[in-house]
Amino acid sequence: MKAVIPAAGLGTRFLPITKSSPKEMLPIIDRPAIQYVVEEAINSGIEDIVIVTGRGKEAIERYFDMAYELERVLEERGEMEKLQEVRRISEMASIFFVRQKMPLGLGHAIYVAKNHMGEESFAVLLGDDIIVADKPCIKQLREIHKKYGCSVVAVQEVEKEDVRKYGIVEGEEVEKGVYRIERMIEKPSPEETASRNAIMGRYILTPAIFKCIERTEPGKKGEIQLTDALNLLLEKEDIYAYEFRGRRYDLGNKFDWLRINVEMAMQHDDFREKMRKFLQKILQD
Ligand code: G1P
Repeated sequence: MKAVIPAAGLGTRFLPITKSSPKEMLPIIDRPAIQYVVEEAINSGIEDIVIVTGRGKEAIERYFDMAYELERVLEERGEMEKLQEVRRISEMASIFFVRQKMPLGLGHAIYVAKNHMGEESFAVLLGDDIIVADKPCIKQLREIHKKYGCSVVAVQEVEKEDVRKYGIVEGEEVEKGVYRIERMIEKPSPEETASRNAIMGRYILTPAIFKCIERTEPGKKGEIQLTDALNLLLEKEDIYAYEFRGRRYDLGNKFDWLRINVEMAMQHDDFREKMRKFLQKILQD
C-alpha cells in the first residue's frame, strides 16, 4: 500500500513561526513532526510515500534528502552514531514530492498525488495530526479495511462544542468502535448534527475517490473538501469509520505542540527523570 501525506497548508494557526518555517518541521524533541507521521506509515508496512508540499516547504524535501557535506564532516570526525541517524532519515522509505500549486483544499491536495497512486487503495495521513499509539493508527485502519474491503476513516469522540473544528461522521455502529457511515459533514455547527464522532486525519481510501474529488464543488472556506468528496463516494460504496486507539495531537494547535513535547520527553530515556523533577519543581513554585 502507498500513502499520501498532505503537507501544503499555510499553518496560519501557528503563526508567527510558520511565516518562514513549515509547521511540519516543528521539532518534537529532536526531530520534525513530519518524521513521526512518516514513521507511522513505515511502521504500518507502507514504504512508498508521496508528500504533497507547496511554496515555502523546501525544508521538508531537504530533510529527507541525502546530506552529503554533513555526512562527510561527521565521517571525518568519527561521529558514527550521528552519521547513522542522518543516513537513516534519507533511506527510511521511498519518498516522493509533488507540489500543490495553490492551497485549494485537502481534497485537491490528495488529487495532485493521483497519478502516483494507481488503481489500489491507499492511505492518507495528515501531516499536522500526530497520533501516539501502541499499534500505529494507520495499521489499525488497514485491518478494518482488510475486513470490510472499503474506505475507512479514523474517528474519535470530541466535545459537542468542538464538532465545528472537524469532519463529523454519522452512522450505525456495526461492531464495537466500527461504524457504517451514513453521512459526513465538514465542520458543522453543533445544531447540525447529533454525532460527536470526528475524523482525525487518517484515512484508507479506494481509488474511486479521485473521480469523486473531480466532481466536488468548493465547500467550507471555498475549498475542495475531502469530506464532501467522501459523501459522493458514499453514493457508490460503503465507507466505515473506526474509533482508533491512541492519543491525537493537532500541530495546528500551540498547546497540543507543548503537550506532545512533554509526552515524548516522558517516553525518552534521557529526559524522563529530568522532566519529572522539573515539572514537580515548577508546579510547587
Ligand atoms: C481536516 C479535515 C477534517 C478533519 C481534520 C482533522 O481539517 O478537513 O475533516 O476532521 O482535518 O485534523 P483541517 O483541520 O485541515 O481544517
